[in-house]
Amino acid sequence: MSDIQDTDYLRQSPEVRDRFERLKKRPVTLSVENMGKVFDTPKGEVQALRDISFQVHRREFVCVIGPSGCGKSTLIRILAGLENPSSGRMLLNGEPVSGPCPDRGMVFQGYTLFPWLNVKRNVMFGLLESGHSRQTAEQEAMQWIDLVGLSRFAESYPHQLSGGMKQRVAIARALANQPKILLMDEPFGALDAQTRARMQAYLMEIWQNIDITILFITHDLDEAIYLADRILVLKANPGEVEELVEVPVSQPRKPEQFLSEEFLATKRRLEALIHPPKPESDEEDPDSLNMVRMVPVNDEVGSVF
Ligand SMILES: Nc1ncnc2c1ncn2[C@@H]1O[C@H](COP(=O)(O)OP(=O)(O)O)[C@@H](O)[C@H]1O
Ligand SMILES: [Mg+2]
Repeated sequence: MSDIQDTDYLRQSPEVRDRFERLKKRPVTLSVENMGKVFDTPKGEVQALRDISFQVHRREFVCVIGPSGCGKSTLIRILAGLENPSSGRMLLNGEPVSGPCPDRGMVFQGYTLFPWLNVKRNVMFGLLESGHSRQTAEQEAMQWIDLVGLSRFAESYPHQLSGGMKQRVAIARALANQPKILLMDEPFGALDAQTRARMQAYLMEIWQNIDITILFITHDLDEAIYLADRILVLKANPGEVEELVEVPVSQPRKPEQFLSEEFLATKRRLEALIHPPKPESDEEDPDSLNMVRMVPVNDEVGSVF
């Protein structure tokens, strides 16, 4: 996409540049190598991902964005071991991995708590599965529940919690297994704007306080810039890496930075990558014709303009 001229987002303050230099010296937690995925469908083969390669360093926060259908969920499902790649591989701390395993924690958009278990038992579940005694599992679960600020709700059931609280339990449950990486697929996508902003702040705080590496899918550009060290931009048909953007906004992040020059320059870049300007054409745009057809012919109220 060399035709996009906006280079402001490449300008980094000395502080930010130093931070990226240090970040790239940290050990690589996740390495994705030439990953591809082809689905066999009744209508033929669909190439969902092609030749995806990138690395995530220890304690790094990487967001993945891209147009709908570009393979974001497919990628994260492969990384979680819920789907097999058609080609390529992934390494966790240098070791090739496949199949599901507690070393990769997963938080989805839909609420995936067990409705018949209370908060404490939901968080204890993975700990008991991996062989912890009931007493240790309970103690550890309570520490994670405390970390996400839900100690008072340890005995509550999922249906008694708000959407944001359920996602906090889902985060506590994933972290309790002490994964090497937390994989999140649009985890705040179903929440209202205010709750979503609060959840972003919570997640930032958790990430700053514990040793966890995060790969986070979102379609919200503000969310990606606010949370990420780097943003992996995918393009569609087939899903390929478009660019890996180093977010030039200093850490730790604060909501005031949403209006900073670096933030807005990054947002302009991401918008240009995801919604490239349409080539000019003399032909009428079929979309705008559809809009015209939507206006009722016998509108008795008259024009709203
Ligand atoms: N199980 C499946 N079988 C066939 N095609 C699939 C399957 N899962 C995803 N796809 C196709 O792969 C492409 C990427 O889908 P997905 O990963 O859900 O994209 P995103 O999460 O970026 O919206 C789409 O064209 C989708 O229709
Ligand atoms: Mg998706």
